[in-house]
Parts: sequence; C-alpha cells; structure tokens
Amino acid sequence: MSTTPADYLSGLFSLDGRTALVTGGSSGIGRAIAGALARAGAKVVVLARKETDLVATVDELTADGCRAAWVSADLSTREGIRAGAEEAAAVFGEPDILVNSAGVNLRPPLGELGEDVWDVTMTVNLEAPFLLGQRFGPGMAERGFGRLIHVTSQQAHRAFVQSGAYGVSKGGLESLARSQAEAWSAYGVTANTLVPGVVLTPLNERLASDPEKVAALAARTMVGRNGLAEDFAGAAVFLASAASAYVTGHSLFVDGGLSVH
Ligand SMILES: NC(=O)c1ccc[n+]([C@@H]2O[C@H](COP(=O)([O-])OP(=O)(O)OC[C@H]3O[C@@H](n4cnc5c(N)ncnc54)[C@H](OP(=O)(O)O)[C@@H]3O)[C@@H](O)[C@H]2O)c1
Repeated sequence: MSTTPADYLSGLFSLDGRTALVTGGSSGIGRAIAGALARAGAKVVVLARKETDLVATVDELTADGCRAAWVSADLSTREGIRAGAEEAAAVFGEPDILVNSAGVNLRPPLGELGEDVWDVTMTVNLEAPFLLGQRFGPGMAERGFGRLIHVTSQQAHRAFVQSGAYGVSKGGLESLARSQAEAWSAYGVTANTLVPGVVLTPLNERLASDPEKVAALAARTMVGRNGLAEDFAGAAVFLASAASAYVTGHSLFVDGGLSVH
C-alpha cells in the first residue's frame, strides 16, 4: 500500500502522544512555539509568571482543539525553577520536549552592570535551562526519546547594542546545548538552539516604538524584514519531531539572514 503525503508528513513531524514544556510560553516567541507544538499534536504546558498571559495562551489553544495547561513559576530563583518543574511534570506527565524560551534582557552596558542584574539574567536565561535539563534529560534518555530546545540570540555569537550580561548568558546557553547533546544524544535525546535575530515582541517594546530603528534593522537582514514570533513555528516543530533525530548540538539561525549579511 502506498503512503499518502499526509501519512508521510505525519511520520516525520507529528507530535501526537508527546508532551512538551515551554518556558516563556505565554508571550512572543515562546507562545508561538507552544502553539506550533500543540497544533502538531503535543500536549503542552506553558510556564511563566503572569497568570493573565498564561490563561489567555491556554484558552486560545484549547479553543483550537489543542491540549494545553499552564503553570505559574518564577525562574529567577532556584526554588522557583524546581517548583515549576515539578508542577509542570504533574500536569500531563514527564515532558518529552523541553523548550527554554523564557528570557530577560535588562540591557545595562557591561560597565554599569550590577551584580543583581547579572544574577537574575544568569538565573532566568542560563541556570533555569540547565536545571530543567538536569531534571528532565535523564528521564528522556531512559525512555529513549527527548528534545531539548533552547532559544538563544545572535548575541550569543557577537556583541550587539550592549550585550552586557545578556550576551554572556546566551553564549553559555549555546554551550549548554552542546554539553547536553554530548551527554544524551546516544540515548535519543537531542539538544539544539534556535537563534533569533530581531523579533518584534514585548521583549523589545522600546525598539518597536522607533520606526527608523525598526527599518534600519530590517534592512540588515537578507529577507528585508524583522522577525515575527510565527517564524519560529516550523523550526520548532522540526527540532521537536522525529525528523530531526540526527540533528544535535546545532544552532539553527531563524533570522532572515541577519547573521550572515
Ligand atoms: N525578541 C527578540 O528580538 C529576541 C531576539 C533574540 C533572542 N530572543 C530570546 O527569545 C526568547 C523569547 O523572547 P521574546 O522576545 O518572546 O520575549 P517576551 O515576549 O518578553 O517573552 C518572555 C517570556 O519569558 C517569561 N519570563 C520572563 N522572566 C521570567 C521569569 N523570571 N520566570 C518565568 N518566566 C519568565 C515571560 O513571562 P512572565 O513575564 O509572565 O514571567 C514571557 O513569557 C528569550 O529567551 C529572548 O532572550 C528574543
């Protein structure tokens, strides 16, 4: 019997039967990724702090026929990270897919950077992905399937408008993905990063209010526009699916060509 295109695509990309945890899944890039994974069949838990955004995200997905739930947790402390992980795992079971999209960019230049900004940046952007990986990676390896997906930044690869602590945290996150890939790829657990360029989300609201800057940044891409959160949907489904089994320790730039222009 010949395979239909739908069966073929489903074998590669369907996330039916998978569970996913998406940190930062209530806004911007994380929200678009959570929606993509859920619409591809995964049961999705979104984790962030603000309940109103979490509820709105889950309501939208549920209205679309998806299975989704939310957990409110603060990833800026170790206790918050650990509590959030346990609460998330209790909803649909241990996740097969972990997406770390929660992030902060507080932007003081390095010369003016206080230890408080350093600590919160490192905890949310780097330590939370590390601790969540330590919590869920071994179970994924035992079950023989897992997908660790981190959202980093072009600032992991070069300095850009005062990278400060933010660029350092994202550089560390790129390295964390490689360490995780080294630890668990032989057991069916891949670890990769999605690398955004400039995406118009609440994270850079200030920028969005300056049309000249927005246009200048768009001109630096090859596609000719800045990123949209939805641009991450296909890449996230690919990295979460069976199709990417042999892709690990990789940084996938979703930036309209910004990084190579
Ligand atoms: N937008 C860009 O141009 C761009 C470029 C490069 C990289 N990135 C990266 O892409 C990722 C997503 O960014 P985005 O633009 O989509 O930003 P966003 O719309 O501001 O979303 C950030 C998410 O992280 C959550 N979050 C922040 N602090 C948290 C904390 N302490 N505990 C738990 N959750 C927390 C937020 O929810 P709550 O506030 O409710 O907690 C929100 O869901 C980030 O890692 C960012 O560094 C973005």
